[in-house]
Amino acid sequence: MNVLVIGGGAREHAICKAVCTGEADLYAVMSNVNPGIRRLATDFYLQRETAVDKVVEYARRRHIDLAIVGPEAPEEAGVTNALADEDIAVASPSREAAEIETNKEFMRSLMDRHRVPGTLKTRAFSDPVKAREFIELLDGEVAVKPVGLTGGKGVRVAGDHLHGVADAADYARRVIEERIGGGSRVLIEEKAVGEEFTVQAFCDGLTILPTPAVQDHKRLLPGDAGPNTGGMGSYSHASGILPFMDRNDYEGSVAILQRLVDALRDEGRPYHGVIYGQFMLTAEGPKVIEINARWGDPEAMNVLPLLKTDLVKLCLAMVDGTMSRKKMEMHRLSTVCKYVVPEGYGSKPLPGIQIKVDERAIEEAGGQLFFASVNERDGGIYTTTSRSLAVVGLAEQISAAERMCEEGLGHVRGGHIFIRHDIGTPALLQQRIDHMRSLRC
Ligand code: AMP
Ligand code: GLY
Repeated sequence: MNVLVIGGGAREHAICKAVCTGEADLYAVMSNVNPGIRRLATDFYLQRETAVDKVVEYARRRHIDLAIVGPEAPEEAGVTNALADEDIAVASPSREAAEIETNKEFMRSLMDRHRVPGTLKTRAFSDPVKAREFIELLDGEVAVKPVGLTGGKGVRVAGDHLHGVADAADYARRVIEERIGGGSRVLIEEKAVGEEFTVQAFCDGLTILPTPAVQDHKRLLPGDAGPNTGGMGSYSHASGILPFMDRNDYEGSVAILQRLVDALRDEGRPYHGVIYGQFMLTAEGPKVIEINARWGDPEAMNVLPLLKTDLVKLCLAMVDGTMSRKKMEMHRLSTVCKYVVPEGYGSKPLPGIQIKVDERAIEEAGGQLFFASVNERDGGIYTTTSRSLAVVGLAEQISAAERMCEEGLGHVRGGHIFIRHDIGTPALLQQRIDHMRSLRC
């Protein structure tokens, strides 16, 4: 079977590795030469992932049977629809179903229309004066978000980045006037207080198969300081839930994902692919922060290495709606993933810096290496302006997985790189547990 993976990041490297554990022949479309994907693939095509016609033509030429779209931008551009029109099985949602991620206003209104639990007070505005009135109504305790895609970097939250009503209203006005996120509309949301977590699930339009909960770290700097990023690292626990939550919290979030999938189907947008729920665990239970129409990055790296079941088989079941008959098996291990990013990432990243990685030593330590937005040329690996590579440790306990991850990171060398070393450490985990306990008391 010829399988095409679209995207050149660490998430896609993880997808490619999982595809290659089975019988499939791997093909790739990516806009950077990801060295990990290049080595696994029978062939790759260096191309913008949103160039619909070119991607489809490549898929046709290579006789692709199954395609998996990694990032959201090609879904929004219609790559999934165009490949499906060529009778290629695509284990990713159509443009219409992916609107659950690409249009945050649609996601909230879908939740309202179908009375899905776990939503927040939200309204969208094109008029800065009306946006300000709503911010005042919520006493400035808001998150201000562009309605469209910003790669996770356009959201500003009261207390973290916005200080008071005037500040929030000013950013809302900028989002509208400068068309941040591609449109002149802003979403004002009630601020949720708690601990964030992610649940990703395989979905065949009807049934979902949820995977272990993961906690990502969006903020750039240790102690959750600094600007939001695409995600600096993440961890999961062998039990499938996280140390600050209980089984009910997890089941509650899975039920929300199922309700969303049902709502999409009812509205004629059946969802086939991996659905990603980002939740805030509040004193009142899980609340939806955002829904993504794909694997998370980094969260894919916590879950995919645990899969015992062949990913390609799961993908085919997602496409043809037969997933309820498949049983998914996973290794019961904890994982810790940390990203290496170029110095200045989040503000002024330094591209073109060489990174030296001893892959063999990382594997000997039991870890796994996933290349992200780097370029390989003349036998060397060079940074771009985005995240460079991720190292994952896997062990029974989070603490051992964290030590394995750090040992692996010891085999990555480069003059101008940055890592959030506090991710997955006992001290940070304890802070999360204490935070949740104080909210619940
Ligand atoms: P998003 O791109 O929607 O995932 O937002 C980026 C980050 O902003 C999230 O990971 C949260 O930490 C924060 N955030 C977004 N929406 C809210 C909200 N309504 N309440 C509190 N924090 C939020
Ligand atoms: N980890 C956040 C995302 O994938 O959007």
